[in-house]
Amino acid sequence: MQHAGEDFLRGVLVWPMTPWREIPLADYEGHMALSEVGQADYLANTLERLVREYAPRSVAVIGCAGGNGFGRLADLEVPRVVGIDINPAFLAEAKRRYAGALQCLELVCCDIASAGCPFEPVEFIFAALIFEYTSVPASLASLRMSLRPGGHVAAVLQLPHASIGVVTPSPFTSLAKLGPVLRLIPPVEFQQDAEQAGFRLKSSLAHVLPSGKAFQEILLDAC
Ligand SMILES: C[S@@+](CC[C@H](N)C(=O)[O-])C[C@H]1O[C@@H](n2cnc3c(N)ncnc32)[C@H](O)[C@@H]1O
Repeated sequence: MQHAGEDFLRGVLVWPMTPWREIPLADYEGHMALSEVGQADYLANTLERLVREYAPRSVAVIGCAGGNGFGRLADLEVPRVVGIDINPAFLAEAKRRYAGALQCLELVCCDIASAGCPFEPVEFIFAALIFEYTSVPASLASLRMSLRPGGHVAAVLQLPHASIGVVTPSPFTSLAKLGPVLRLIPPVEFQQDAEQAGFRLKSSLAHVLPSGKAFQEILLDAC
């Protein structure tokens, strides 16, 4: 079966089992834009703030979906942008939306936890709400290979909430497929894995949205 965007496939011989390849982008983006979820703007704002602060000449967005935040990178005139995702249909839509605004856009369809997910190293990596679905040590090892000397990784982890479910209840029922595979990563565990992978912790801050959902923003430097 052909998937839209199959031309992006690179280095993936065996796909891991993941419900992410079965979720329509419209469902995912509809869910993220719900006021009780409110995460799409938060992630795009965080990416923009960090790119303004570090002014990298190359940025990779891991788990980029349909390109949330890419418009901000175009406005900031980042010279090189790489988007990584495991769902080729998401990347096909990201290409349709942003290839004009971001002429330097590279889109790679791969499993970030695989050693076969190479891209030319970048100065800044933004990896938000992706480690919940992957092997953290394997993904960090892969990212370490794709970070330039002196570069930075920003990770956003979802934190547990006493009353809101891990996947916020939503009219987009396909999102329920994520529940069984989503694992919240304790920030301390993530930091230990990051040090093992050759990163140094720069900062770690919690951020709470008006919905009450909370996230840990972790910045890593390459050792
Ligand atoms: C929760 S979303 C991330 C949030 C997104 N950056 C945004 O701003 O909306 C997770 C994304 O990671 C992708 N993904 C999940 N597992 C992956 C993997 N192993 N390798 C690469 N991408 C993956 C999914 O297809 C999805 O687009």
